[in-house]
Amino acid sequence: MASSRLTVPHHVAIVMDGNGRWASQRFLPRIAGHKQGVDSLNRCVRACLERGIGVLTVFAFSSENWNRPPEEVSGLMELLALSLSREVPSLNAQGVRIHFVGARQRLSEKVQAGLAQAELSTAGNQRLIFNVCFNYGGRWDIAQAAHKLASRGEAITELSLDRAMAMAHVPDPDLLIRTGGELRLSNFLLWQAAYSELHFSSKLWPEFDDAALDEAIAFFNTRERRFGQTSAQVSGHDKNQDARVV
Ligand code: FPP
Repeated sequence: MASSRLTVPHHVAIVMDGNGRWASQRFLPRIAGHKQGVDSLNRCVRACLERGIGVLTVFAFSSENWNRPPEEVSGLMELLALSLSREVPSLNAQGVRIHFVGARQRLSEKVQAGLAQAELSTAGNQRLIFNVCFNYGGRWDIAQAAHKLASRGEAITELSLDRAMAMAHVPDPDLLIRTGGELRLSNFLLWQAAYSELHFSSKLWPEFDDAALDEAIAFFNTRERRFGQTSAQVSGHDKNQDARVV
Protein backbone atom coordinates (compact mmCIF):
# COMPACT_ATOMS: atom_id res chain seq x y z
CA MET A 1 0.00 0.00 0.00
CA ALA A 2 1.51 3.31 -1.12
CA SER A 3 0.52 5.15 2.05
CA SER A 4 2.22 2.74 4.51
CA ARG A 5 5.13 5.09 5.37
CA LEU A 6 3.02 8.22 5.20
CA THR A 7 1.07 10.06 7.86
CA VAL A 8 -2.54 9.01 7.55
CA PRO A 9 -5.05 11.84 8.05
CA HIS A 10 -7.35 11.08 10.99
CA HIS A 11 -10.46 12.59 9.40
CA VAL A 12 -11.06 12.48 5.63
CA ALA A 13 -14.07 14.27 4.11
CA ILE A 14 -15.21 13.73 0.52
CA VAL A 15 -17.45 15.55 -1.99
CA MET A 16 -18.38 12.57 -4.17
CA ASP A 17 -18.89 14.43 -7.46
CA GLY A 18 -19.16 13.05 -10.97
CA ASN A 19 -21.79 10.29 -10.79
CA GLY A 20 -23.98 12.01 -13.39
CA ARG A 21 -21.12 12.43 -15.86
CA TRP A 22 -20.00 8.84 -15.33
CA ALA A 23 -23.52 7.71 -16.31
CA SER A 24 -23.86 10.13 -19.27
CA GLN A 25 -20.55 8.93 -20.71
CA ARG A 26 -22.12 5.46 -20.86
CA PHE A 27 -25.53 6.64 -22.13
CA LEU A 28 -27.08 5.53 -18.83
CA PRO A 29 -29.62 7.37 -16.66
CA ARG A 30 -28.04 9.56 -13.94
CA ILE A 31 -29.33 7.25 -11.20
CA ALA A 32 -27.12 4.47 -12.63
CA GLY A 33 -24.17 6.74 -11.82
CA HIS A 34 -25.39 7.17 -8.25
CA LYS A 35 -25.76 3.38 -7.89
CA GLN A 36 -22.18 2.98 -9.09
CA GLY A 37 -21.33 5.72 -6.57
CA VAL A 38 -22.62 3.53 -3.74
CA ASP A 39 -20.22 0.74 -4.86
CA SER A 40 -17.38 3.24 -4.92
CA LEU A 41 -18.36 4.40 -1.43
CA ASN A 42 -18.30 0.83 -0.08
CA ARG A 43 -14.83 0.38 -1.59
CA CYS A 44 -13.71 3.68 -0.05
CA VAL A 45 -14.95 2.67 3.43
CA ARG A 46 -12.91 -0.55 3.19
CA ALA A 47 -9.85 1.39 2.01
CA CYS A 48 -10.20 3.83 4.94
CA LEU A 49 -10.38 0.92 7.39
CA GLU A 50 -7.29 -0.70 5.85
CA ARG A 51 -5.34 2.55 6.12
CA GLY A 52 -6.34 3.30 9.72
CA ILE A 53 -8.35 6.44 8.94
CA GLY A 54 -10.52 7.18 11.98
CA VAL A 55 -13.31 9.31 10.51
CA LEU A 56 -14.81 9.40 7.02
CA THR A 57 -17.39 12.06 6.16
CA VAL A 58 -19.15 12.06 2.78
CA PHE A 59 -21.55 14.46 1.07
CA ALA A 60 -24.40 12.27 -0.20
CA PHE A 61 -27.24 14.80 -0.66
CA SER A 62 -27.02 18.56 -0.25
CA SER A 63 -29.69 21.00 0.91
CA GLU A 64 -29.65 22.26 -2.70
CA ASN A 65 -30.03 18.81 -4.32
CA TRP A 66 -33.83 19.08 -3.86
CA ASN A 67 -33.68 21.35 -6.94
CA ARG A 68 -32.67 18.42 -9.17
CA PRO A 69 -35.26 16.73 -11.44
CA PRO A 70 -37.90 15.01 -9.26
CA GLU A 71 -37.05 11.54 -10.62
CA GLU A 72 -33.40 11.98 -9.60
CA VAL A 73 -34.40 13.19 -6.10
CA SER A 74 -36.78 10.26 -5.58
CA GLY A 75 -34.14 7.92 -7.03
CA LEU A 76 -31.58 9.12 -4.48
CA MET A 77 -34.11 8.69 -1.64
CA GLU A 78 -34.83 5.13 -2.79
CA LEU A 79 -31.11 4.45 -3.12
CA LEU A 80 -30.57 5.64 0.44
CA ALA A 81 -33.32 3.34 1.75
CA LEU A 82 -31.97 0.41 -0.29
CA SER A 83 -28.36 1.06 0.74
CA LEU A 84 -29.36 1.13 4.40
CA SER A 85 -30.91 -2.31 4.25
CA ARG A 86 -28.12 -3.74 2.07
CA GLU A 87 -24.98 -2.20 3.53
CA VAL A 88 -25.58 -1.77 7.26
CA PRO A 89 -24.96 -5.44 8.18
CA SER A 90 -21.61 -5.39 6.36
CA LEU A 91 -20.64 -2.01 7.85
CA ASN A 92 -21.53 -3.41 11.27
CA ALA A 93 -19.35 -6.47 10.70
CA GLN A 94 -16.44 -4.17 9.76
CA GLY A 95 -16.75 -2.15 12.99
CA VAL A 96 -18.11 1.01 11.35
CA ARG A 97 -20.24 3.45 13.32
CA ILE A 98 -22.67 5.42 11.14
CA HIS A 99 -23.94 8.93 11.80
CA PHE A 100 -26.31 10.77 9.51
CA VAL A 101 -25.71 14.50 9.48
CA GLY A 102 -28.35 16.88 8.12
CA ALA A 103 -31.97 18.01 8.47
CA ARG A 104 -34.16 14.94 8.73
CA GLN A 105 -37.64 16.49 8.92
CA ARG A 106 -38.09 16.66 5.15
CA LEU A 107 -37.22 12.99 4.66
CA SER A 108 -39.99 10.39 4.63
CA GLU A 109 -40.86 8.68 7.91
CA LYS A 110 -39.59 5.39 6.46
CA VAL A 111 -36.19 6.89 5.60
CA GLN A 112 -35.98 8.66 8.98
CA ALA A 113 -36.70 5.38 10.77
CA GLY A 114 -34.03 3.66 8.65
CA LEU A 115 -31.44 6.29 9.57
CA ALA A 116 -32.23 6.00 13.27
CA GLN A 117 -32.07 2.20 13.12
CA ALA A 118 -28.71 2.24 11.27
CA GLU A 119 -27.26 4.60 13.87
CA LEU A 120 -28.58 2.54 16.75
CA SER A 121 -27.38 -0.80 15.39
CA THR A 122 -23.83 0.49 14.75
CA ALA A 123 -23.55 2.64 17.90
CA GLY A 124 -21.15 0.24 19.63
CA ASN A 125 -18.59 0.21 16.79
CA GLN A 126 -15.26 2.01 17.08
CA ARG A 127 -13.01 1.22 14.10
CA LEU A 128 -14.31 3.98 11.83
CA ILE A 129 -16.80 6.80 12.34
CA PHE A 130 -18.69 7.16 9.08
CA ASN A 131 -20.65 10.41 8.71
CA VAL A 132 -23.10 10.47 5.83
CA CYS A 133 -24.20 14.06 5.16
CA PHE A 134 -27.71 13.83 3.78
CA ASN A 135 -29.94 16.87 3.30
CA TYR A 136 -26.93 18.72 4.64
CA GLY A 137 -25.47 22.14 3.95
CA GLY A 138 -22.66 23.99 5.72
CA ARG A 139 -24.85 27.09 5.98
CA TRP A 140 -27.70 25.00 7.41
CA ASP A 141 -25.37 23.66 10.09
CA ILE A 142 -24.10 27.10 11.14
CA ALA A 143 -27.68 28.47 11.21
CA GLN A 144 -29.11 25.52 13.18
CA ALA A 145 -26.27 25.78 15.72
CA ALA A 146 -26.88 29.52 16.19
CA HIS A 147 -30.64 28.90 16.48
CA LYS A 148 -30.04 26.21 19.12
CA LEU A 149 -27.88 28.54 21.22
CA ALA A 150 -30.27 31.49 20.84
CA SER A 151 -33.26 29.39 21.88
CA ARG A 152 -31.37 28.33 25.03
CA GLY A 153 -30.33 31.94 25.69
CA GLU A 154 -26.65 30.98 25.43
CA ALA A 155 -23.91 33.31 24.24
CA ILE A 156 -22.75 32.77 20.66
CA THR A 157 -19.00 32.27 20.65
CA GLU A 158 -16.70 30.27 18.39
CA LEU A 159 -16.55 27.53 21.01
CA SER A 160 -20.28 27.39 21.75
CA LEU A 161 -21.13 27.38 18.03
CA ASP A 162 -18.59 24.66 17.40
CA ARG A 163 -20.15 22.51 20.12
CA ALA A 164 -23.67 23.07 18.77
CA MET A 165 -22.79 21.98 15.24
CA ALA A 166 -24.13 18.76 13.77
CA MET A 167 -20.50 17.61 13.34
CA ALA A 168 -19.51 18.29 16.97
CA HIS A 169 -18.94 14.57 17.64
CA VAL A 170 -15.77 14.50 15.49
CA PRO A 171 -12.66 16.68 15.11
CA ASP A 172 -12.43 18.88 11.99
CA PRO A 173 -11.38 17.14 8.76
CA ASP A 174 -7.64 16.98 8.10
CA LEU A 175 -8.07 16.24 4.41
CA LEU A 176 -11.01 17.25 2.22
CA ILE A 177 -11.20 15.57 -1.18
CA ARG A 178 -13.46 16.59 -4.04
CA THR A 179 -13.70 14.33 -7.06
CA GLY A 180 -15.02 15.25 -10.50
CA GLY A 181 -12.67 18.10 -11.31
CA GLU A 182 -14.61 21.04 -9.86
CA LEU A 183 -12.66 23.39 -7.58
CA ARG A 184 -15.24 24.46 -4.99
CA LEU A 185 -16.71 23.44 -1.63
CA SER A 186 -20.39 23.62 -2.69
CA ASN A 187 -21.60 24.35 0.86
CA PHE A 188 -19.82 21.34 2.41
CA LEU A 189 -18.34 21.66 5.94
CA LEU A 190 -17.93 25.45 5.63
CA TRP A 191 -17.16 25.84 9.34
CA GLN A 192 -15.15 22.65 9.85
CA ALA A 193 -12.94 22.91 6.73
CA ALA A 194 -11.25 26.13 7.93
CA TYR A 195 -7.86 24.37 8.15
CA SER A 196 -8.43 21.24 6.10
CA GLU A 197 -6.01 20.44 3.31
CA LEU A 198 -7.94 20.49 0.01
CA HIS A 199 -7.32 17.87 -2.65
CA PHE A 200 -9.14 18.03 -5.98
CA SER A 201 -9.18 14.86 -8.06
CA SER A 202 -10.17 14.84 -11.73
CA LYS A 203 -11.50 11.28 -11.33
CA LEU A 204 -15.28 10.91 -11.36
CA TRP A 205 -16.56 9.49 -8.06
CA PRO A 206 -17.43 6.00 -9.43
CA GLU A 207 -13.79 5.74 -10.59
CA PHE A 208 -12.24 6.88 -7.30
CA ASP A 209 -10.27 3.78 -6.30
CA ASP A 210 -7.68 2.86 -3.66
CA ALA A 211 -4.86 4.33 -5.78
CA ALA A 212 -6.72 7.66 -5.98
CA LEU A 213 -7.15 7.67 -2.19
CA ASP A 214 -3.44 6.94 -1.77
CA GLU A 215 -2.69 9.84 -4.13
CA ALA A 216 -4.77 12.11 -1.89
CA ILE A 217 -2.93 10.84 1.21
CA ALA A 218 0.42 11.41 -0.51
CA PHE A 219 -0.69 14.97 -1.35
CA PHE A 220 -1.66 15.47 2.31
CA ASN A 221 1.87 14.48 3.28
CA THR A 222 3.36 17.22 1.10
CA ARG A 223 1.49 19.93 3.01
CA GLU A 224 2.83 21.83 5.99
CA ARG A 225 -0.06 22.45 8.36
CA ARG A 226 0.51 25.82 10.02
CA PHE A 227 -2.87 26.71 11.55
CA GLY A 228 -2.02 30.41 11.30
CA GLN A 229 1.55 30.05 12.58
CA THR A 230 4.72 30.63 10.58
CA SER A 231 6.66 27.86 8.92
CA ALA A 232 9.55 28.43 11.32
CA GLN A 233 7.24 28.06 14.32
CA VAL A 234 5.76 24.75 13.21
CA SER A 235 9.15 23.31 12.28
CA GLY A 236 10.54 24.34 15.68
CA HIS A 237 13.18 26.67 14.22
CA ASP A 238 11.69 30.01 15.21
CA LYS A 239 14.58 32.08 16.64
CA ASN A 240 12.17 34.47 18.37
CA GLN A 241 10.35 31.59 20.02
CA ASP A 242 13.69 30.04 21.05
CA ALA A 243 14.80 33.36 22.50
CA ARG A 244 11.64 33.59 24.57
CA VAL A 245 12.01 30.04 25.85
CA VAL A 246 15.61 30.74 26.86
C1 FPP B 1 -22.78 14.38 -7.12
O1 FPP B 1 -22.55 13.92 -8.44
C2 FPP B 1 -23.29 13.29 -6.34
C3 FPP B 1 -24.46 13.31 -5.64
C4 FPP B 1 -25.36 14.47 -5.61
C5 FPP B 1 -24.92 12.14 -4.91
C6 FPP B 1 -23.82 11.37 -4.26
C7 FPP B 1 -24.35 10.06 -3.88
C8 FPP B 1 -23.66 8.91 -3.91
C9 FPP B 1 -22.24 8.77 -4.22
C10 FPP B 1 -24.32 7.66 -3.61
C11 FPP B 1 -24.44 7.46 -2.15
C12 FPP B 1 -25.72 8.01 -1.79
C13 FPP B 1 -26.63 7.42 -1.04
C14 FPP B 1 -27.99 7.86 -1.27
C15 FPP B 1 -26.31 6.36 -0.06
P1 FPP B 1 -23.37 14.59 -9.61
O2 FPP B 1 -24.64 13.85 -9.78
O3 FPP B 1 -23.53 16.06 -9.36
O4 FPP B 1 -22.40 14.34 -10.82
P2 FPP B 1 -22.20 15.28 -12.09
O5 FPP B 1 -21.49 16.51 -11.60
O6 FPP B 1 -21.34 14.45 -12.98
O7 FPP B 1 -23.55 15.55 -12.66
